[in-house]
Amino acid sequence: MELLDQPAVNGGAGSGVPRAPVKFNLFDPAFHADPYEVYARLREEDPVHRTVMGAWVITRYADVKTLLRDNTFGVFDIPTRIERKSQFLEKKNMGELRTLAQAMRRWLMLCDPPDHTRLRSLVNRSFTPGAVESLRPRVQEMVDRLLARVRHTGRMDIVNDLACPLAVTMIASMLGVPEEAHASVTRWADGLSRVLDPLRSLEQYAEMNNVAQEFLAYFRELFAERRRHPREDLISSLIAVTDQGDKLTEDEMLSVCMLLFIAGEKTTVNLIGNGTLALLKNRGEMERLRQDPSLIRGAIDEMLRYDSPVQLNTRVPKKDVTLHGKTIPAGDLIYFSLGSANRDPTQFPDPDRFDITRREKGHLAFSGGIHYCLGAALALIEGQVAFSTLVREFPDLELVPGEIDWQKEIIFRGPQTLPVTFSP
Ligand code: HEM
Repeated sequence: MELLDQPAVNGGAGSGVPRAPVKFNLFDPAFHADPYEVYARLREEDPVHRTVMGAWVITRYADVKTLLRDNTFGVFDIPTRIERKSQFLEKKNMGELRTLAQAMRRWLMLCDPPDHTRLRSLVNRSFTPGAVESLRPRVQEMVDRLLARVRHTGRMDIVNDLACPLAVTMIASMLGVPEEAHASVTRWADGLSRVLDPLRSLEQYAEMNNVAQEFLAYFRELFAERRRHPREDLISSLIAVTDQGDKLTEDEMLSVCMLLFIAGEKTTVNLIGNGTLALLKNRGEMERLRQDPSLIRGAIDEMLRYDSPVQLNTRVPKKDVTLHGKTIPAGDLIYFSLGSANRDPTQFPDPDRFDITRREKGHLAFSGGIHYCLGAALALIEGQVAFSTLVREFPDLELVPGEIDWQKEIIFRGPQTLPVTFSP
C-alpha cells in the first residue's frame, strides 16, 4: 500500500559534502537535549527510518497525520509484554506483574476497537466539556496557592513547585479524591508515570506493580464510599455509568482512574516546563503575551507545537505497509513522531521559530484519530491559567543558568527540573 507520494530525498540538503547517514538513537543524551536537528534530517533524508533497535520512525507531518487516522495501525500491546515478563518472574518465584498488566489492558490508548470504542464512549459521558470548564476557577485557585508558597523566596522550580502538583491535584480534584490523600496519589502517579515508555526494566515493572496494587486498593475503597454517598465528582459520575446495566465494570472504572493520572500528569507537566523554557528563551514573545493577555490561546497552541510534551506515539501495523518505497512488516513497532511532525516546514513555515500568533494551525500534540487526547480541554485550561498568571505576576522571571536536565523518557519530552528566579 503506497500511502503518500511525497518523494524521499537521499543525501540531504547542503553543500554536497557527503554526510554520515542520519541515526535515530533514543539513548543519545544529545538527542534528548535537542532532537529537532535529527528530526529535520529524517524528514528530508529518510522519512520512514528503521532504527538500530529494529523499530520504525515516521517523521513527516502529512504521513503522521494520515496514518494516525488509518485503522491499519493498532496499538502497541504493552500489557502482553508485561504479562510475558510476569510469567518469567513467577517461574522463578520472584513475584508477578499481573495487577499492572490487567489494569493497563483497559487503558484507552492501549485498546483497539471494538473495546476502545465502547470504553471511550462511556468515559466521554463523564468527561464532558462543561464538567471540565467548571474546573477553571479551581485551577486558578490551585495556581495561586502554589505560587503563594514560593513567592517570598525569589526562586522556584517550575516543574516540582508548580507543574507537578497542579497536574496531579487537578486530576485528583476532578475525580473527587479527598485532599488528605493527594500526597499519596501524587506518589503513586509519579511511580507509574513511566509505564508507557516501552523500554522499562523488570525491576521497574515490579515496583510499578506494587504501586498499582496500592493505588487500586485505595480507589476501590473510595469507590465504595462514593457508591454510598455520591457527590458531584467524576468518580460518582462513572459509578452512575457503571450502574446502568453492564456498561462499565468496577475493574474498568478503576483502570480509568489510573489511566487519567498516567495520561494527564507528565504530559501537562511537560507543557508547563517546555512552555516556560520557550517563553524565557523568546522574551519578545513573552512580552507580547504580557501586553496582550488575549493571545494566551494561540500561545499555548504554539508551546504544544514548538516543543511537544508527547514526542512519539507507538503503533503496530496489522498488515505489511509500504510507504516511500519501504515496506514495514506487519507486527513491527512504529513510532509516529508528533514532535517532528509539528516542526515540519511543509505545514509550519519557519518551524523552529516560536511565534505565539502563528497563523498555521493543526499541530498534532494531542495526536489524532480515535486516540485523540481525552484530556485536551483540561490541559488547555491548566496551561492558559498557569501561563497567564506567570506572565502577569512574575515579569522578571529568569532561568537559573546551567544545563537543562531533560527527562530520560523516550515518549515524553520535558525538563526534569526547571529552576527560575524572580523578584520576591
Ligand atoms: C498538554 C497535556 C497533554 C498532552 C500533550 C497529551 C497528549 C496526548 C496524546 C499525544 C495522546 C494520544 C496517545 C496515542 O495516540 O497513543 C493522548 C491520549 C490521551 N490523553 Fe492526553 N495529553 C495531555 C493531557 C491529558 C490530560 C490532562 C488527561 C486527563 C486528565 C489526558 C488523558 C488522555 C487519555 C485518557 C488518552 C487516551 C485517549 C484514547 O486512547 O482514546 N491527557 N494524550
